[in-house]
Amino acid sequence: MSAATAVDTRVALVSGASRGLGLAVAERLLADGWSVATFSRSRSDELDKVIESWPDTFSWVQGDVSTDDMRQHVRGVQERFGPVDVLVNNAGLLHQELFLTMPERRIDELLAVNLAGPVRLAQACARQMSARGRGVILNVSSINSLRGFRGVAAYAAAKAGLDGLTRALARELGPAGIRVNSLVPGYFETAMTSQVTDENRVRITRRTPLGRLGTTDEIARVATFLLSDEAAFITGQTITVDGGLTC
Ligand SMILES: NC(=O)c1ccc[n+]([C@@H]2O[C@H](COP(=O)([O-])OP(=O)(O)OC[C@H]3O[C@@H](n4cnc5c(N)ncnc54)[C@H](OP(=O)(O)O)[C@@H]3O)[C@@H](O)[C@H]2O)c1
Repeated sequence: MSAATAVDTRVALVSGASRGLGLAVAERLLADGWSVATFSRSRSDELDKVIESWPDTFSWVQGDVSTDDMRQHVRGVQERFGPVDVLVNNAGLLHQELFLTMPERRIDELLAVNLAGPVRLAQACARQMSARGRGVILNVSSINSLRGFRGVAAYAAAKAGLDGLTRALARELGPAGIRVNSLVPGYFETAMTSQVTDENRVRITRRTPLGRLGTTDEIARVATFLLSDEAAFITGQTITVDGGLTC
């Protein structure tokens, strides 16, 4: 059953849906009849095509999760489409750099984009959701939160923080009718993983039981399942989609 037919919730806020995983999730939701709002720092060609295809049900505004007032973004969505039913806390940033030489401003940036901003966005949405007694929050984490990898310390710390947020919020917001889960992607073909060297790509593929990187559609399918009423009894969980890499 599709997300849209499973529940009567219809308004999704997907942060960072200008490309990659976020855009794939947004496109699936749009095809299922949802209204989808997003923001990112810049536009992309893929984004422009989606805006053109869904002029009435898709909205993009320029925004930065690390610096903007998230309450204003959420109010903007409400004005355009109505209250937010589901949040996909997807916007994220990765810089690979060894910890010992990483400048402090880079650490601050990674923690702000991948953790502090998403926490503030979750709060802004949860306040609206709790007033209506329902809602779903899906935090997009990473396998870096589960396993140690070199060169991603601040990013990994932020993503592990998001998983902690998921569990704490599931406890606190469950009684208010709000489900909160973490979606934990392995390696998917997006702009973010284009930084992976050919040598590392071969290594990742070799270590992945299914022998390849994932497609954005494969992660979007799991996301829309977790947002749907099919997953009505799933909360506080980290759902890993990685072709078996971390098993
Ligand atoms: N691809 C993978 O294999 C993989 C693996 C594990 C986890 N993830 C996670 O999955 C999520 C999506 O990743 P992706 O691969 O789709 O990455 P991507 O292709 O780089 O897309 C990231 C999205 O986030 C937006 N974004 C980045 N910084 C932002 C900021 N400060 N404020 C607002 N938006 C911002 C980007 O737009 P702008 O740059 O224009 O702002 C873009 O829309 C991220 O949370 C990432 O950590 C991805």
